[in-house]
Amino acid sequence: MVNVNIENNEKESFEDIVKSISKILKRNLKIHISLEKLNRLTYKEEVISNKKISIPIKTTYFSFMLTGVGIERDLNNKDIEFLKILALLIKGYLEKEEAKILKDLTLSFISKRNINELFKEILEKLEKIIPYTSASIGLLEDDTLKYLSFRGYEKYKADKFMSSFNMRREDFYTLDTVLKTKKPLLIEDTKDYPFWVYIPETAWIRSFLMIPIIYEGEITGIISFDSDKAYTFSKEDIEKMSSFIPIFALSLENAKLYESLKRELEEKVIIEKRLKSSLYQVIKIASDLVEIKDPYTAGHQKKVARISVVIGREMGLPQEKVRYIAICALLHDIGKIAIPSEILNKPSALNPLERRLVNIHSEIGYNILKKINILGEVAPVIYQHHERWDGSGYPLGLKDDEILLEARIIAVVDVFEAMTSHRPYRPALPLESAIKEILDKKGILYDPLVVDAFIQALKNGKIRI
Ligand SMILES: [Fe+2]
Repeated sequence: MVNVNIENNEKESFEDIVKSISKILKRNLKIHISLEKLNRLTYKEEVISNKKISIPIKTTYFSFMLTGVGIERDLNNKDIEFLKILALLIKGYLEKEEAKILKDLTLSFISKRNINELFKEILEKLEKIIPYTSASIGLLEDDTLKYLSFRGYEKYKADKFMSSFNMRREDFYTLDTVLKTKKPLLIEDTKDYPFWVYIPETAWIRSFLMIPIIYEGEITGIISFDSDKAYTFSKEDIEKMSSFIPIFALSLENAKLYESLKRELEEKVIIEKRLKSSLYQVIKIASDLVEIKDPYTAGHQKKVARISVVIGREMGLPQEKVRYIAICALLHDIGKIAIPSEILNKPSALNPLERRLVNIHSEIGYNILKKINILGEVAPVIYQHHERWDGSGYPLGLKDDEILLEARIIAVVDVFEAMTSHRPYRPALPLESAIKEILDKKGILYDPLVVDAFIQALKNGKIRI
């Protein structure tokens, strides 16, 4: 007995398997077996005689004819029985193959987000179901079919033509018909179709199938199949495709929506980037303005910003928060713009009245920034950067965590930077003394956690004066 095991032979195509079975049978049973792909319904009847057996094998997407012909003798009952079993095995194999294709196609529909990738993959997989020469997917916009994806045209060097081709309804009767009827159009032989429009690049097309993709009652796209042989496509192909069209339409809509969302998002990112870069320019100009007015503190705000960022990171704050602290620090003394230069540049210590005048710079800074939309959130931090942990600061005398964290960080760095910098009325304090001063006031003037992070960062060499 001949052992036929199609299921386990995954590597070979079933046509190859049938060929090898045929060889064995030819030797043993003296009959010839063939398997042909069928595209036309008319040839699908079972024929059994003692000279020839034809058994149609049909699944949802495949149609084949298994034929056995007696070579050196007539066919007997055993041959018929054997071929019927073989037909069943092939059918089982095809159904398995079909399930695989369906799974693959469904996965493509679900997983591919990029509209072009999705269509490319779908066209590739559809070739197994509908044997086309070339195929295309077009999106319908203003009665014009714009091709998003196509495949197979390179065989007739028509791929370049396709990449720039748009099919207008008024020029093509085929498209007009599909749009009018909202139904697929099958042209079994273009030579018999009186309205076929001949274009040199596609003159080789002999049969043609156009299927509309309908979403919520409207045609959104069209999938077309071309063949260089007449009678390639049949009504069965339309049936095969019918189960895919709704999911096709839905994924086309999803992909379109996703693409437009992506475009919107990209535009938003570009705008944000521009905004951010112009915001930084504004901050830099504002920061520089103070230093022009108070040249003795040149670079003070930038140094405070640099060290505050290190402390923010040391405290494990999120990146966005750290950036925000940098902006606040860069602008913390912006209110000094309104203080007379003579006071700011006074080479000796300030008297109490002058001190009070200088001290209102945090309030002035707040009032300047709160009016600017994009810097509005920075304003409260500027307002509080002279508040102290024990409530001894100004302008409100806020205590511990009533003070914003950003302001508590800037407070420490502001004092440290001022102490370690030279002033016209006093020399810079040695680093050790400045550190001692901060440590002495830990939990009194300064947030202990901020001071700890500051000391840790200093120890790790992350802060350079
Ligand atoms: Fe200040």
